[in-house]
Amino acid sequence: MRKKITVIGAGNVGANCAVWAAKKELGDIVLVDVAEGIPQGKGLDLAQAGPVEHYDVNITGANDYGPTENSDVVIITAGFPRKPGMSRDDLLLANYEVVKFATEQAVAKSPNAIIIVVTNPLDAMAQVAYNVSKFPKNRVVGMAGVLDSARFRTFIAMELGVSVDNVTAVVMGGHGDTMVPLVRLSNVAGIPLTELIPQDRLDAIVDRTRNGGAELVKMLKSGSAYYAPAASAVEMAESILKDKKKILPCAAYLEGEYGINGLYVGVPCKLGANGIEKVYEIKLTDEETAALHKSAGAVKELVDVITAKMG
Ligand code: NAI
Ligand code: 2OP
Repeated sequence: MRKKITVIGAGNVGANCAVWAAKKELGDIVLVDVAEGIPQGKGLDLAQAGPVEHYDVNITGANDYGPTENSDVVIITAGFPRKPGMSRDDLLLANYEVVKFATEQAVAKSPNAIIIVVTNPLDAMAQVAYNVSKFPKNRVVGMAGVLDSARFRTFIAMELGVSVDNVTAVVMGGHGDTMVPLVRLSNVAGIPLTELIPQDRLDAIVDRTRNGGAELVKMLKSGSAYYAPAASAVEMAESILKDKKKILPCAAYLEGEYGINGLYVGVPCKLGANGIEKVYEIKLTDEETAALHKSAGAVKELVDVITAKMG
């Protein structure tokens, strides 16, 4: 039987998730949004690109969750994006309500789905989806590390004038400016970064990666990035739907790994048919561990705000 993917939020990220997922023929796609006509219109428009782009999946849109029944993967992009001058954290309480509602509705129709959360602030919203869905932790995962690593890889490739395909890079931690791009564990065709790029340039690249989202908000002015975020969410969906067991940096619910407990934080995960099938605990230096814990602390502050305000 064909797989089914629900994308909640048919805005910039959601619509582009549908585009990438259709192009890869991952399964039938249902777009859901509160805006009347938008998910239906974008769904129909995308379906009509099928004959041209040679994909053959059903793509539909709805304002309710009926058509999402029995989805295998639910990607939550619904919510409000960042505007210039706004931090991801400003989005916290508004997006809490959106993610809570979307999760409740989606899991009622698809109790066996795997949820990929994209809405910001990412790690806190993944925790909301986990708490609200009451799914086991392997079935709720957050997308940020794939995007942040992709940005890191892009900047490294640009610096060296080499193919991005040769660049392996790891970013751990929360999806904010405390994220932890790990230079020591990144390489170009197996060559350590430190042998290729001088320290001052490496520092600049790490800094640009940490601020990669803000750089785009500044340019776009009326919203935040969407092509790379959507491609990243779909890479995760593909690994799950095809049971590819890719190791990708994802926000996962940690229970003691890396000394972090009861929190969603970005770590390397194996993604397969059961969602997060393994969290890899890499041996980190003291400095890297401190940076990861600082980043987890930033996530915890947000989760605490939600808990205090919403219970
Ligand atoms: P957008 O404004 O283009 O789209 C958001 C859509 O959500 C709109 O169409 C809106 O009508 C819809 N929506 C609002 N409330 C809803 C509800 N209750 N149910 C269903 N749909 C609802 O925003 P964009 O650019 O697509 O970003 C979406 C979210 O993804 C934002 O929170 C943004 O910050 C986040 N994001 C996260 C990234 C990550 O790395 N985790 C990367 C890029 C964006
Ligand atoms: C990004 O990193 C806004 O979180 C989003 O582009």
